[in-house]
Amino acid sequence: MNYRHAYHAGNFADVVKHAVIARLVEYLKLKDKAFRVVDTHAGRGMYDLTAEEAGKTGEWEQGIGRVLSHRFARDAALLLAPYLDAVWAANPDGGLKRYPGSPWIVRKLLRKQDRLSAIELHPAEIAELKSLLAGDFQARAIELDGWLALGAHLPPKERRGLVVIDPPFEQESEFDRLVDGVKGAHKRWPGGTYLLWYPIKDREAVSDFRRRLADTDIPKLIDIRFELRGPSPEPRLDGCGLAVVNPPYTLEAELQVILPALLGVLRDGPGAKAEVVRLAE
Ligand SMILES: C[S@@+](CC[C@H](N)C(=O)[O-])C[C@H]1O[C@@H](n2cnc3c(N)ncnc32)[C@H](O)[C@@H]1O
Repeated sequence: MNYRHAYHAGNFADVVKHAVIARLVEYLKLKDKAFRVVDTHAGRGMYDLTAEEAGKTGEWEQGIGRVLSHRFARDAALLLAPYLDAVWAANPDGGLKRYPGSPWIVRKLLRKQDRLSAIELHPAEIAELKSLLAGDFQARAIELDGWLALGAHLPPKERRGLVVIDPPFEQESEFDRLVDGVKGAHKRWPGGTYLLWYPIKDREAVSDFRRRLADTDIPKLIDIRFELRGPSPEPRLDGCGLAVVNPPYTLEAELQVILPALLGVLRDGPGAKAEVVRLAE
């Protein structure tokens, strides 16, 4: 486990992922009934953008840095507000010095009846996450293998909610684990919404992954594809994808507003595109 998200926090992929997570949580809040978010690869929850790791890559400057200095049109601004307000809430002194991870953003959006299970395996990351969420009775940091959590923590007792699966992709086999993981989880809890993050880097692996996802027999499944540029000659993170199982019926229309708005700010060369493809009806 060498992956450290501190090098990448706030990059374009975090922006797209967190903006979509926020829309999914906002949708769950439309009904009073309590829900739970299970974040299987939660990370440390808060990242210091002035630290050496963030400075080494500077990825956040091309991601959240650009987004926060942009003025979005009103429709996009309204849809992005829950996410961007959470980012500002992590920076109470103004100026962008910290970037919140998925568990912190979700926690910020919960109502008092809702819960978060944030799962992380890396010893240093889980220690930070536990201290970030210490004393919070709505959110629990759990030291566990996220893939096991898909069995052990599903379905949640609330029977409503979202599962975020955001592995580090240190190994190519993580595409296989994602397909197998969501297949098993969906069997245990068919009614949950699932969000799966994946890198668009090795195009062949990505096509194979999408084909395998479409073959799972999961009946409601969309694939969000966000590409900063066309394919690079050398393997490079040219984009990211988000597969959503059981997407809310409002999501596609929201994405038609959010994705072009974000792409306009984040694009990095010819061939940039963002689209939503239905892998299953
Ligand atoms: C991409 S980062 C997560 C970022 C976070 N979801 C966010 O959006 O802020 C992936 C995380 O998974 C953790 N991780 C790696 N293998 C894991 C496993 N088997 N179970 C749980 N966490 C794991 C890594 O330590 C890393 O913090």
